[in-house]
Amino acid sequence: MQHDKILILDFGSQVTQLIARRVREAHVFCEVQPCDVSDQWIRDYAADGLLKGVILSGSHASVYEDTTDKAPPAVFTLGVPVLGICYGMQTMAQQLGGKVEGHHLREFGPAAVRARGHTKLLENIADFTTPDGHGMLNVWMSHGDKVTELPPGFKLMASTDSCPIAGMADEERRFYAVQFHPEVTHTAQGKAILERFVLEICGARPDWVMRDHVAEAVESIRRQVGDEEVILGLSGGVDSSVAAALIHRAIGDQLTCVFVDHGLLRLNEGDMVMDMFVGKLHAKVIRVDASALFLGELQGVSDPEAKRKIIGNEFVTVFKQEAAKLTSAGAKGAKWLAQGTIYPDVIESGGAKSKKAVTIKSHHNVGGLPEQLGLKLLEPLRDLFKDEVRELGEALGLPHDMVYRHPFPGPGLGVRILGEVKKEYADLLRRADAIFIEELRNFRDAASGKSWYDLTSQAFAVFLPVKSVGVMGDGRTYDYVVALRAVQTSDFMTADWAELPYALLKKVSSRIINEVRGINRVTYDVSSKPPATIEWE
Ligand code: XMP
Repeated sequence: MQHDKILILDFGSQVTQLIARRVREAHVFCEVQPCDVSDQWIRDYAADGLLKGVILSGSHASVYEDTTDKAPPAVFTLGVPVLGICYGMQTMAQQLGGKVEGHHLREFGPAAVRARGHTKLLENIADFTTPDGHGMLNVWMSHGDKVTELPPGFKLMASTDSCPIAGMADEERRFYAVQFHPEVTHTAQGKAILERFVLEICGARPDWVMRDHVAEAVESIRRQVGDEEVILGLSGGVDSSVAAALIHRAIGDQLTCVFVDHGLLRLNEGDMVMDMFVGKLHAKVIRVDASALFLGELQGVSDPEAKRKIIGNEFVTVFKQEAAKLTSAGAKGAKWLAQGTIYPDVIESGGAKSKKAVTIKSHHNVGGLPEQLGLKLLEPLRDLFKDEVRELGEALGLPHDMVYRHPFPGPGLGVRILGEVKKEYADLLRRADAIFIEELRNFRDAASGKSWYDLTSQAFAVFLPVKSVGVMGDGRTYDYVVALRAVQTSDFMTADWAELPYALLKKVSSRIINEVRGINRVTYDVSSKPPATIEWE
């Protein structure tokens, strides 16, 4: 099935991905590309007739410096609607004959914008009306420069006291631009404005629906792979699990999953993965119990980076050994390696190549592995955002708890046991961590009705290899300490420690100390990121 599409040109704003997510939430397919694609690239991209509109993102740069980026001129001659946001508005103004000026004062934060000119973009969209009848929008602003002269053919669409041209439109050519950020949730009507643009002004069909995507993705995998065999490294995380379920739906037993258990997984995690994929989905999964190998290599190593390297390298070695067995069957051997790469990874590495987007988070798919193994790469999730991957997972029948679980780092408990990793420590930590997670799932916030597991972005226990004195019954104890960590974040770049209810902390602490012999003290980590990180190592 062919989807209408919206092209988002990224000038390097931190929130470009939010534009794409808002468009996808309107069920319209869109892609993000670096802003310096060529005119020819734009024309080729539009050649199939499916491109319905272009959105120009924000940036930290200033348009009136010659060195900074402009939109490829072809954008303005394709005949499709264009929406400029923040820097995107400024470059549109400047490229089409208006004027942009720098300002020593940055405007950052909430603002009330008055809608003007009765444009199609803002028609009947308002947060409140002034006593003299003007429609007003509560928006989020973040800019220094501003448009000071409209380009020919444009009329004023919005203004504030400090930013007289906060929006402009040339309705004949269907060019619209706003100085504020409709993609962030602080702009109350942002979703409505972006929906108005993509659905009504661009006329894009809202046919991007995860439920329907299953059939389409299955078809595409079958076409790509034919009757060849595929290997997938299953970690139990959301992305690899959804990729495995999807590929299995498409090609059944042509898929073999390799699940490397490094001995640093959470309590019963290995069994749960096997139960789901083998027990319920009837997929072929090779479980490699490599815990002795990993723990042996980690013996005596306490430096965090050295530990990470050992775990990472060992993982690749074990996976390659298993993969080699599967590829060695000659013509019948595996020809494909599947990976759970998702769209933010694709955008970030694309942006990194063109130096546009600021790298937000390094991602963890093992680069170069397909080449080393002589395999073709299959990435069935590479068009999807994380929330779409989750929706797809549920549509494929994976349990809610599995697709909505917190992220778990590749090195596993290896980075949650401070210093040297020992089996004894890992066993204690697994039990403490399981109690914490169980109680987070049990406790609900009265106001929202949500569990504290769902109200936090990541939560776990950390093992501290120090002993402290305690008293239990009539006796003295001298045992280990665990720290609890729970954070709330939208991007994992910055994070706040979660204000968990005392009753929850009390229950967790009491259960851990009573049920996990060997731990007699529980602390709660009240550090935010930055300056701390989410993990302790
Ligand atoms: P930090 O500790 O850097 O963590 O604040 C940010 C997010 O990244 C995860 N993380 C990792 N994930 N391999 C991974 O796959 C790693 O080596 C790794 N280190 C940190 C961390 O769990 C959090 O979600």
